[in-house]
Amino acid sequence: MNMRIVSTVDEIRNARLILDGTVGFVPTMGFLHAGHLALIRRARDECRHVIVSIFVNPTQFNPNEDLAKYPRDLKRDFRLIEPFTDLVWTPTPEIMYPQGYQTWVEVETLTSPLEGAARAGHFRGVTTVVAKLFNIIQPTKAYFGQKDAQQAAVVRRMVRDLNFPIDIVVCPIVREADGLALSSRNVYLNAEQRKAATVLFRSLSAAKELYEAGERDAEKLRAKMKTVLASEPLAKSQYVSCADYDTLDELTAIKGKALLSMAVVIGETRLIDNFVLAG
Ligand code: PAJ
Repeated sequence: MNMRIVSTVDEIRNARLILDGTVGFVPTMGFLHAGHLALIRRARDECRHVIVSIFVNPTQFNPNEDLAKYPRDLKRDFRLIEPFTDLVWTPTPEIMYPQGYQTWVEVETLTSPLEGAARAGHFRGVTTVVAKLFNIIQPTKAYFGQKDAQQAAVVRRMVRDLNFPIDIVVCPIVREADGLALSSRNVYLNAEQRKAATVLFRSLSAAKELYEAGERDAEKLRAKMKTVLASEPLAKSQYVSCADYDTLDELTAIKGKALLSMAVVIGETRLIDNFVLAG
């Protein structure tokens, strides 16, 4: 396959216009790994054409975050996606946010807890850039990872609320053999921190085990996750949650589908992970 690489809005619009049939779209920030590739392969399986965007979106990073040092390697990214991708779009910040830019898309309640509470302004940046990408690319289906559970929920809400004619497909988390969820940020971890990072999976697994043994008291599951996290001296827990899958409200008693999730800082690196309890 011949993958075409474009950068301006006119180029991507014109290249998109001549595609007929279904278009699958995978938005990314690059430094791609097997988690991203699973989304792209799924799009390849389900759609006639596949478009990938690679854009480290500055508006979803707050001033204390890792925007400047976010890992980048476009050449490697192109090589990895070439077998599955028709068209890749790599806009610049100036293209996405030209001088005078002042329009924002905001999902309200769903963005308050969890990642929204820990990262002020983050989801406003995500929903704004995703809305722009959707308007420009006009895909049939768009693919997101369960790894960013709240992001997937927020994008689905936005698509319903603003009537985007796009199917949102959420794909399972791809993990390393020892359970660590793949993330572009894992490259920040040194060998010792990398070992410690398995504590997220271990803690989620321990809570899930309680659930499978019949525990439905959400506080007991949160306590279990906290205990396991506390056993790892390199890990600092930021939040631990057992919430309703759809609303993300913290639960007292687990009745239906629920989301166990957490954010943990190891050294300078912030890691997130989650499990779904099917209900
Ligand atoms: P990024 O972190 O590059 O992730 C792109 C997509 O890959 C997201 O939908 C994310 O959930 C998914 N993903 C990442 N790691 C994964 C894993 N281990 N298993 C499965 N899927 C995984 O998320 C973003 O970029 C940005 O916020 C974006 C949506 C592109 C907007 O800027």
